[in-house]
Amino acid sequence: MYHIALTHKILDLAKKHHLGKSVNDQNFLMRFIANIDEIHHIFESIYGQTALFSEQFEALIQSIFETHLCRSKALKDRDYQKAKEGNWFLSNQLMGMSLYVDRFAGSLKGMNTKLNYLENLGVNYLHLMPIFESPEGESDGGYAVSNFRKVDARFGSNEDFEKLQKELQSKNMYLMIDIVLNHTSHHHEWAKKAKSGDKEYQDYFYFYNDRNIPDQMDETMPEIFPESSPGSFTYIPEVDKWVMTVFHHYQWDLNYRNPKVFNEMLSNVFHYGNLGVDVLRIDAPAFIWKELGTTCQNLPNAHKLLQLIKLCTEVATPGMALLGEAIVAPAEIMNYFGTGRFINHECDVAYNATHMALQWDALATGDTRIMLSAQHELLKKPFGGTWITYTRCHDDIGLGYDDYMIEQVGYTPYLHRNYLKNYYGGIQEDSPAAGALFAVNPKTNDARISGSLASLCGLEKAKNAKDPQKIEESIQKIIMMQAHSFLLGGIPIIFYGDEVGYENDYSYLQDSGKSYDNRWMHRPVIDWKKNSLHTKKGTIENRIFTATQQLIQIRKSHEAFGDYKNLEWLDSHNKSIVGYKRNLKGKTITCLFNFSDQLQELTHYIFETNGKRPKKVKDLITGKEFKIGMDHDHLVFEPYGFYVLKE
Ligand code: GLC
Repeated sequence: MYHIALTHKILDLAKKHHLGKSVNDQNFLMRFIANIDEIHHIFESIYGQTALFSEQFEALIQSIFETHLCRSKALKDRDYQKAKEGNWFLSNQLMGMSLYVDRFAGSLKGMNTKLNYLENLGVNYLHLMPIFESPEGESDGGYAVSNFRKVDARFGSNEDFEKLQKELQSKNMYLMIDIVLNHTSHHHEWAKKAKSGDKEYQDYFYFYNDRNIPDQMDETMPEIFPESSPGSFTYIPEVDKWVMTVFHHYQWDLNYRNPKVFNEMLSNVFHYGNLGVDVLRIDAPAFIWKELGTTCQNLPNAHKLLQLIKLCTEVATPGMALLGEAIVAPAEIMNYFGTGRFINHECDVAYNATHMALQWDALATGDTRIMLSAQHELLKKPFGGTWITYTRCHDDIGLGYDDYMIEQVGYTPYLHRNYLKNYYGGIQEDSPAAGALFAVNPKTNDARISGSLASLCGLEKAKNAKDPQKIEESIQKIIMMQAHSFLLGGIPIIFYGDEVGYENDYSYLQDSGKSYDNRWMHRPVIDWKKNSLHTKKGTIENRIFTATQQLIQIRKSHEAFGDYKNLEWLDSHNKSIVGYKRNLKGKTITCLFNFSDQLQELTHYIFETNGKRPKKVKDLITGKEFKIGMDHDHLVFEPYGFYVLKE
C-alpha cells in the first residue's frame, strides 16, 4: 500500500537531515516508497503506545537513509547483480563452510592464506563464527558480544576483516556473519551503564527489583543451559536487582519493548550490511520477544520485529539476505519464512534442524520412517525461501521433532529419545558413536547431543580399537550423511574439520572458560599437518576430503540440486532406505540412501513412484549405468551405501 501523505512527510524528513542525495537514487527511492508504509505500520503496531514512538520512528528513517548513503558503489553494484539474478541463494552453486577464524586459520589475516584450500574443496560461502569483541572466558564462543563494531583482537582488526571481505568478493565467494540480536555480554557498555545504576540503560534490558516476576516467568520459560546456567534470571548485586539471562548468566537479554534498543540493533544490522555481508545470521531470533505466561519463544512480536528488520534491509542493504537461526519445532520453523503477506519478507533462510536431527535418528536406528513422517511439515517451506542443510555445526544436536512423528511409526517418543541419547551420548557401551549428553535437564529429562561428525559416525572408537572394518564403515557413514544433506536442497554448510574427519577434542576440559560447555569437544583446532594429508592417497583424510569434494562437484554440476520446490520424497518399501527425487526443467535425479549397517535391496519399482520408469540411470558417484528392469529386478546397497541416479 502506498501512503502518499506519509511518504512525502518522510521524504521531507530526509531532506531535513541533508540526506537528499539518497532521494536522487531511483532504485533506492523505489524500494523506499514500496516499503515505507509497511515499515511505519509495523513500527507503530509495536511501539505506537510508547512515548518515544515519533522520535524513534524519525531515527529509524534517518538510519535507513544514512545506510544507503554510506553503502559503497561496489556493494550497490553487487546488490544490482543479485536483484537481477533474483533469489540468488537458492542456487546449486552455493556451498558453505562454518568455521572459527582463530581455530581454523589463527587470525583473519591467516584466513587469506586458506582460501585456496577452501576453493579446492569447492566451498564458496564462508560462515565466520562470531568475531566481534567478546570477553575471554565468558564468551559463549563469541555469542556474548561486548562491542558489535569492533573485531576482537584475538582475530585481528577491523581492517583485516575488511580486507578479507574484499578478497572474498573478488573471488566471488559469499560471506556470512552473525548478529547476536537477543542479548549482549554483561561487559557491553549498555550493560556496564545499567550495572552502574543508569535507569536509561537498565531499560535496555529486563530488570526486576525482586524475584516476583522472574519466579512467575521461570514457571513457563524452558531452560536453555540447565546445567551451567539454570533458570532465566541472574542477580546483579551492584544494583540489587535481577536481570533476564535466558542463555548464560553473562548474556543479558535485550529489551525490544524499548524502541531505542530496536534502532540501535538495526543500525548494527545495517553496519554489517555495509561491511559487505551477503547473508546475516540472526542468532536466536525465536527469543527476542518476551511475555509473562508464555515460553517466551516464537511469539508474534518476535516475527513482527524480524519482518521490520527485513523490510528495512530490503530498502537499505538489499543484497544482504537474512538467515533466522531458529532451532524450533517443525511447524514453528515455517513461520520464520514469513506468513500471510509477509511470506518471503521475514527470513530468507532457516536451518533445517529437524532434518539434521532426523538424519542422526535414522543413522542410529537404521530406520528412516520417522524422517519420512516429518517431511509433510518440511515441504511447506515457501518457494523463495531456503534451508541451511547440515549434518553438524558448532552447536549440539537437539531431538526436537514432534512426538506424533515418532508415534506414527510405532515407537514410544520417550523411549525412542532415550535410545538415541544412550546411543550417541556415551552411555550405551557397544554403540559405535562417541559423543556426550549436553544440557541435561533432570526436571524434564531433556538432553541434547554433542560430538563431531566423525566421532558420532564411529571413527573415534573404530580407530581406538584399531578395527579396519569399523573404520571403513564409519568413513562410509560420514560420506553418506554428507551426501544426503548436500543434495537435499538448501545451502549445505560443512562444519570445518568434517571434510577430513576430525574426531572429538577433549582438551576443552582443561580450560575453565570452556569446560562447563561440552559443545567445545566438536570445535577443533585445525592441525594443518593433518589437513594436508588430504592429498596423500589412501589416508582417512584423503578418503573423506575427496568424497566431499566429489559431492560438491556433483551438486554444482546439476541445477536440479538448487532449491526450487523441486524435492519429492519416495516411498521406498524398505525402511532402511530413504530416497528423494530432485527434478528441474525435465531433468530428474533420484538419490537413495541406505541408513543401515546391512546389505539392502530395493526393487526397481522405486523408479515408478511419482513418475515414469526410465530405461536406464547413471550413478553420478561411480559413473556406473543401470538398466531399469521389471519389479523383481533390484538395486543392491552396501551398508551405508547410496546412489545418485540421473535419468
Ligand atoms: C545460538 C548459537 C549458540 C549460542 C546461542 C546463544 O543458538 O548458535 O552457539 O550459544 O545462540 O547466543
